[in-house]
Amino acid sequence: MKKHVVFFEVEGGTDKGPDGYRPDTLPMLKSLRKRGWMAEVIFYADEKKDEIFERVVQDADAYVSRINPGNLKDESAYFQLLRQLCEFGVKGMPHPDAMIGYGAKDALIKLRDTPLVPEDTFAYYDIASFKKNFPKSLKKGERVLKQNRGSTGEGIWRVQLASDSEEAEEVSLNATLRCTEAKDNHVEEHTLETFMTFCEQYIIGENGMLVDMPFLPRIKEGEIRLLMLHKTPVNVVHKKPAEGEDAFSATLFSGAKYRYDSPEEWGGLVRSFLDSLPVIMERLGGYNLPLIWTADFILDTDEQGHDCYILGEMNCSCVGFTSQLSLSENVADEIISILSEVESMEQLNNR
Ligand SMILES: Nc1ncnc2c1ncn2[C@@H]1O[C@H](COP(=O)(O)OP(=O)(O)OP(=O)(O)O)[C@@H](O)[C@H]1O
Ligand SMILES: [Mg+2]
Repeated sequence: MKKHVVFFEVEGGTDKGPDGYRPDTLPMLKSLRKRGWMAEVIFYADEKKDEIFERVVQDADAYVSRINPGNLKDESAYFQLLRQLCEFGVKGMPHPDAMIGYGAKDALIKLRDTPLVPEDTFAYYDIASFKKNFPKSLKKGERVLKQNRGSTGEGIWRVQLASDSEEAEEVSLNATLRCTEAKDNHVEEHTLETFMTFCEQYIIGENGMLVDMPFLPRIKEGEIRLLMLHKTPVNVVHKKPAEGEDAFSATLFSGAKYRYDSPEEWGGLVRSFLDSLPVIMERLGGYNLPLIWTADFILDTDEQGHDCYILGEMNCSCVGFTSQLSLSENVADEIISILSEVESMEQLNNR
């Protein structure tokens, strides 16, 4: 082993401290160096791609990706570099396809036949199937539509019928809807037809699609975020939406209140999530779990009347831990333990 890890960052973006780095990157470097490892930050730019590739393949055992793809002009070149590095034996933390798979909203669809996701959750990749199916799914009750691209609640809509609809298999195109956007909990009224036309923007273009899932009313009790360090929950954030009939958003900007808990306080959730990690890994392409990632849950009630936890989304491309920098010590230990495990596997295979 070379005992050398590179951290990729990109210049600019709102996630940087005054020194130009993400505030939680240098603490990880320090913690690795304390353990006798080399660690450095490389600022990614498309034009430096080949040079970076050569250097990292030669020097490093692993990379840790600390780039929000939203801060890149063209994320495909960056992902291509990561993919190449992994092919040449550099350990990806995470592998680019894991980053895409865990981060995409349609990860939910891949997990639909597990208890993590309600059965009547759908994804629409073209306008025709959206317009054909959404009037039927809305008939079953309140829904949440999620676009793939945005973040912090943009293009995430709670959709209710403004009045009871007539007996029919699907909601009629001229029915009035109450639509609340998670960005700021503002409400708009539209007919089903105009709202579906408005939503076309989320489906067209690269990576466009909409996830359609049941609205979970217990979001009022809060969204529960597990901060995961590889396979270990290290922190829980409880996000309670603002008061108000329509409010459902757990984003800070919308007025949600955040509370930080320890994983021990959420034993039931933690145990059931840890049990489902193997199936999550398998469904999302068989990659190693990301190094630092999050999974968000909303409470629901199962058929027996027991609490259960529904997965709302996962994030793994630029999850930070700025509010708890001491975690850098755990991260360094985890990186070293993952790489040591890889090394002993390789030694076994080479025997
Ligand atoms: N099925 C649901 N039922 C009730 N509320 C939901 C549901 N899905 C999402 N929400 C609410 O909407 C908010 C935004 O949705 P989501 O977290 O999926 O997207 P996002 O916040 O835009 O993405 P990111 O967290 O990556 O920025 C959630 O924080 C939660 O409060
Ligand atoms: Mg979210």
